[in-house]
Amino acid sequence: MLALYSIKGGVGKTASAVNLAAEAAAAGHRVLLWDLDPQAATTFYLRAKPKVRGGVARLVKGKAAFDKVVRATQVANLDLLPAALASRELDHLLAERRDNQLRRILKPIRDDYDLVILDCPPSLSTLSESVFASVDALLVPIVPTVLSLRTLEQLRDFLDARDIPCPVWPFVTLADRRRTLHREIIASLPERWPLRLSHAIPSASVVERMGLERAPLRAFAPRTAPAQAYRRLWEEIAQRLA
Ligand SMILES: Nc1ncnc2c1ncn2[C@@H]1O[C@H](COP(=O)(O)OP(=O)(O)O)[C@@H](O)[C@H]1O
Ligand SMILES: [Mg+2]
Repeated sequence: MLALYSIKGGVGKTASAVNLAAEAAAAGHRVLLWDLDPQAATTFYLRAKPKVRGGVARLVKGKAAFDKVVRATQVANLDLLPAALASRELDHLLAERRDNQLRRILKPIRDDYDLVILDCPPSLSTLSESVFASVDALLVPIVPTVLSLRTLEQLRDFLDARDIPCPVWPFVTLADRRRTLHREIIASLPERWPLRLSHAIPSASVVERMGLERAPLRAFAPRTAPAQAYRRLWEEIAQRLA
């Protein structure tokens, strides 16, 4: 299980969750993408409705209940748990259970998927603590700016202070290699962040078109630089998971 996570909003978590999930699905993995952000952008990109009858309480009731809320998407091998489950209700559910609750909630469908990807809201909350305890790694998008690096340090400090052993795998998004500062920040990453993923996602307007096409890049612009960067990024992640 992986999470796209950052304390910061607008850094490409959702774009990355959708594109990486689509790449993993295209590589033949059975993927479940869980939209944990009440803003429901992932749900929108995958053409689903952010409404689930019975609500989140239903999820803990086992596999039959799960099958009623999980949606197939237009992408083969990719299923979606829509937002709207991401609510105060979910926070309550997580608060009353301990530790790796998300993993436990997903237990009934563990055998149905090879990979679960969580698209997280930009916050530190009960939900994020449960994410930290449940995932194999946090994929943290970094826009190459000083402030973005600072929030990465803040996340590191938070995890260290609480002895949370969750690996942090930063990767660069919205990169503009024409800008000196971007190049410098990208070059400085490996020293401080040995676990950083090496493939950067370039800044390109085609990524914004995902909102119009309501599809991952590989479905409508597979030859563009960001689509290929996401494919290579996924291959790098897959190698680490193997
Ligand atoms: N590589 C990119 N190039 C250009 N725009 C991007 C890129 N990645 C994301 N965006 C745009 O930036 C905005 C924020 O991205 P999003 O994935 O929603 O961030 P988050 O989920 O972290 O809030 C969106 O409008 C999205 O289309
Ligand atoms: Mg988002």
